[in-house]
Amino acid sequence: MHLAIIGAGFVGLSMGVVLADKGHKVLLVDVDKAKVEKINSGIAPFYEPKLSELLEKHVGNNLKATTNYSELEKAEIIFICVGTPSKPDGSIDLKYVISACESLKDVLKHAKDYKLIVVKSTVLPTTTEKVIIPILEKSGKKAGKHFGICVNPEFLREGSAINDFLNQDRIVIGAMDKKSGDILEKFYRNDFPSSPIVRVDLRTAEMIKYASNAFLATKISFINEIGNICKKIGIDVYKVVEGMKYDPRIGGHFLNAGIGFGGSCLPKDLKALINFAKELGEHPKLLEAVNHVNETQPERLVELAKQRIGELKGKKVAVLGLAFKPGTDDLRETRALPIITKLLDEGAEVIVYDPIAKLPEELNGSVKVASSLEEAIKEAEIIKIVTDWEHFKELINLEHYLEGKLIFEGRRIFDVKPENLEIEGICW
Ligand code: NAD
Ligand code: UDX
Repeated sequence: MHLAIIGAGFVGLSMGVVLADKGHKVLLVDVDKAKVEKINSGIAPFYEPKLSELLEKHVGNNLKATTNYSELEKAEIIFICVGTPSKPDGSIDLKYVISACESLKDVLKHAKDYKLIVVKSTVLPTTTEKVIIPILEKSGKKAGKHFGICVNPEFLREGSAINDFLNQDRIVIGAMDKKSGDILEKFYRNDFPSSPIVRVDLRTAEMIKYASNAFLATKISFINEIGNICKKIGIDVYKVVEGMKYDPRIGGHFLNAGIGFGGSCLPKDLKALINFAKELGEHPKLLEAVNHVNETQPERLVELAKQRIGELKGKKVAVLGLAFKPGTDDLRETRALPIITKLLDEGAEVIVYDPIAKLPEELNGSVKVASSLEEAIKEAEIIKIVTDWEHFKELINLEHYLEGKLIFEGRRIFDVKPENLEIEGICW
C-alpha cells in the first residue's frame, strides 16, 4: 500500500522502516530539513537497535523522506506521528499536531480519493473529535464521508522500537465509523496476524494510551516507595519483588526500583493526564503522588552519598550513564539531569560517562566527559550508577581503580552484590 507518516521521529521512523520492510511504499514527511536529508542518505538521525540496517536497506526503494506535503497525493493511509510535548505547566502542547493537521487539510482539499487519517501521536481523550477533525474539515471535505479517521496509539519502547512494532502485544483501533476501523484492521491483520486487535471509539483509544502509561508509572513509583521503606530497615526490595511476582495478579514487570522513570513518554503523559483530570474537575491524588515520588527519587541518590561521607563539596563524583535507559541515546526527562544538577549545587566535581548518549547542552562546561568507563572512575572518589547499561557490570573487573571508593547504584545492575566492591543501592 502507499502509506505516509507525518513526523519522522522515534515513532514515525521506527514504524516506517518496519512497514517498508513489509513491502509497503512509505513516504515520511517531516518539517526538519536536516533530518529528511539524513534519512534520504540512509543515516539514522538517532540511535535505535536495527534501525540503521533497515533504513539502509529500504531508502530509495520502499522508503523516502520529504518536507513537501504535496507529495502525499498517492497515500492511502496517513499516520500522524508528530510530537506532543509538555508545556511548562505540564499540560499537553498540541502545536505540532495542529500544524500537521493544517498541512493535511490542504492535502485533503485537493485529494481525488478517500484517505484514512490515523492519529498515532499520544493525544488526550476527545482531542481527535474536538481539535483534529475540525481542522481537517476546513478542507471542505467531510470526516466519515470523504476521509476516514482512526486513533491508533503506539506502545513501542525506545531501545526495542523495531521489535516492539513487529511484535505488538495489542493493536488498539479507535474509529469514528465502521469503514475507517475496517480499513485499518485489514491493514494490520495482513502484516501482523498474531497481534490481538481491540476496536473501540476514538476517545476510548486515546484514553487507553494514557491509562497504560499512567499504570506503568504507578508501578514504578509504587515499588520505589516500598523500596524507600525497605531501605530504612535493611530489606532488599528486589527480594521482596521476587516473593511477589509469582502471584499472577501482580507479576514482576516494571517493578525495578531505582531513581524513577524518565523518557519521552511516562513523565509527560502522566503530567498531561493530571492536568486534564483537573480541567474536568477531578483531583487525581494517586497520579499526583506517583509524580511526586518520581520527582523526589533522584535526590535520594545524592542524599545517600551525603549520609555516608558528609559534605560533597570538592568531591570528585563519577556519574555513570546519561541516557534515560539503556539501549538509547535519548536524554528526554533523564534522571541523570536532576542528579548531576544537585551534585553541582552541592559543590561536587562531576565527570560523566555514557557509552552513546551525549552531554546535554545545558551542562556544557560544568562537568567533565570521560571517553571510557576506566577514565570516569580512575580519579573519582564516589561513583553513581544512573543508567543500567550492561557495560557498567565491567566495574567488577576494574577493582584496582575502586579501592576505598563508594559506588551508589541508582539502577540495580548487579543481581548479586559483588564481594570485591563497596556498593550501596538507592533503596536496597
Ligand atoms: P519526536 O519528537 O522524536 O518526533 C516527532 C517528529 O515530528 C520530529 O521529527 C519533528 O520534526 C516532526 N514534526 C513536528 N511538526 C511537524 C509537522 N507539522 N509536520 C511534519 N513533521 C513534524 O517524537 P516521538 O518520540 O516519535 O513521539 C511522537 C508521538 O508518539 C508523541 O505523541 C509521543 O508521545 C508518542 N509516542 C512516543 C513513543 C516513544 O517511545 N518515543 C512511544 C509511543 C508513543
Ligand atoms: C514507555 C512505555 O513503556 C511504552 O509503552 C510507551 O510507548 C512509551 O513510553 P519508554 O519510555 O521507551 O517506553 O521506556 P520504558 O522502558 O517504559 O522505561 C521508562 C523509564 O522507566 C526508564 O527511565 C526506565 O529506566 C524506568 N523504569 C522502567 C524503572 O525505573 N523501573 C522499571 O521497572 C521499568
